[in-house]
Amino acid sequence: MSFIIAILLIFSSLSSSSCAVPLSTRSRWIVDDSGKRVKLACVNWAGHIQMLPEGLNKQPLSNIAKQISSMGFNCVRLTYATYMFTRHGHLNVGEYLEHNKLTLALEGVKKHNPNILNLSVWDAQKAVIDALGSQGVMVILDCHVSKPKWCCNDNDGNGFFGDQYFDPQDWLNALSTVAKRYINTPMVIGMSLRNEFRGRRQDQNVWYTYVEQGANLIHKKNPNVLILISGLGYDIDLSFLKKKPLNLNLHNKLVYEIHRYAFSQAQYGFWSNTSINYMCQKVAQEIEAKSGFLRGGRQNGAPLMLTEFGIDLDQNSQPDTSFVTCLLAWLAENDLDWAIWSGHGSYYLRDGKQDADESYGMFDGTWSKVRNPGFHTKLQLVQQILQAPFSTQPMDRVMYHPLSGSCGMAQGNEVQAGDCLKTSVWSFNGDGSPIRLKGSNQCLKAAGEGSPVVLTDYCSGESSSWKLAPKSMYQLSNGNGLCLHFDSSISNKVLTKKCIVTDPDYVKLPGQESQWFVLVQSNTK
Ligand SMILES: *[C@@H]1O[C@H](CO)[C@@H](O)[C@H](O)[C@H]1NC(C)=O
Ligand SMILES: *[C@@H]1O[C@H](CO)[C@@H](O)[C@H](O)[C@H]1NC(C)=O
Repeated sequence: MSFIIAILLIFSSLSSSSCAVPLSTRSRWIVDDSGKRVKLACVNWAGHIQMLPEGLNKQPLSNIAKQISSMGFNCVRLTYATYMFTRHGHLNVGEYLEHNKLTLALEGVKKHNPNILNLSVWDAQKAVIDALGSQGVMVILDCHVSKPKWCCNDNDGNGFFGDQYFDPQDWLNALSTVAKRYINTPMVIGMSLRNEFRGRRQDQNVWYTYVEQGANLIHKKNPNVLILISGLGYDIDLSFLKKKPLNLNLHNKLVYEIHRYAFSQAQYGFWSNTSINYMCQKVAQEIEAKSGFLRGGRQNGAPLMLTEFGIDLDQNSQPDTSFVTCLLAWLAENDLDWAIWSGHGSYYLRDGKQDADESYGMFDGTWSKVRNPGFHTKLQLVQQILQAPFSTQPMDRVMYHPLSGSCGMAQGNEVQAGDCLKTSVWSFNGDGSPIRLKGSNQCLKAAGEGSPVVLTDYCSGESSSWKLAPKSMYQLSNGNGLCLHFDSSISNKVLTKKCIVTDPDYVKLPGQESQWFVLVQSNTK
């Protein structure tokens, strides 16, 4: 017994020391209590639809929390509905499920989490937060909707202040209650103002008024939490802040958030019929113009967090694959904080169907397995801190292949596409210079079409000088028009092949993604 207690004490001290909360911001970075960077690599977990975090009918809560942590996530963006705090907070979970004839949910919760059944909606949420906290997983509480329901469309009555269910005062009351309720729960490190403003009522002046009120209110009730602020048009557009910044002083707690999917901005079709080079550059520029600029400027920059992105993990459709390859490349290069949609693998009820599958979920429908291990691998690099902004370590490079999620690893005199947790470190000075293996005299040299790239001491000459291929975003070409190329169905080695480039640049050619290598800046390896 005392042995077990000793072990528990060791674990709890480890988890509290691994994240010195509360968090705050320093220019564009999130930092811990001691000023060291913390990178939030989160999963979304829906808790707003039935007012109970999903999946408690599938696995014991402690298993879910453990697995989220072992998948490499250090935080959860847990969604809630404002009505949970202004109307239905004291409902008993079991009675609620029974009353709404959610028979499968009821049976499952009874089996896997019987202690949750007799809790109120509030206490069930707290139980989930505590289970995550005991695994060292931090929580951002996301105000997702007002009325508990699936989100989001333009006409769902939850899109903007004044919509059918979105009463501003009710919303402020909920923010205030949530902020106060978790003042002594340090693992709740952030609260969002509101998910995805949308619909025809959207108005910038109204946005400024309520965003400033809501943020000040949270900060007054709970000065510990980061406050996440989202823009208009489904959390895409914050461009208006360029002309008129928010009039807020949150004492280094303000974080901006954005969302992005392949279907954002009605772009899905373009991901299928134009080249990834063209689309990704277009989208990266669009993000920069609409929100990315906010992290600029040493004095007044703030962190920008991508709090939703994701793809259908069962289909692996070409447009989704191109989209996520682009987004991961961009995320790695900019080393932003992020949250994938979603963690949850199923819903108690969606579209009238009980136990509905979520094909975007990191968990499969059983909540015990990773739905798509290949996709999970792709997140490995961006789960790590790549840039330590307050360190004196010089920036090196990691050779990231976002399509496969692997990283260039020196192996003898060749390069394997390997695990990004144990990657080699490279240096590269840009246009036309060699790509050198750090700590050696060796550099990359193309040996010919279809051959593995080789490591050699011969570092001058066309075949070992690298630059971006014309019209490409991340294809690395040597002086002879050969590009780095990786395709696991051909070889586990990085090859060189004729550059797959097109003119004009929007023409789609298959296989370009295989040649995407991002030389990601990092000073932590
Ligand atoms: C449920 O909780 C109530 C109040 O906390 C308690 O009185 C009751 O005995 C509990 N019921 C069960 C079945 O545990
Ligand atoms: C690609 O698809 C989009 C949207 O589906 C369409 O508007 C556009 O014309 C298409 N472009 C080409 C080159 O086929």
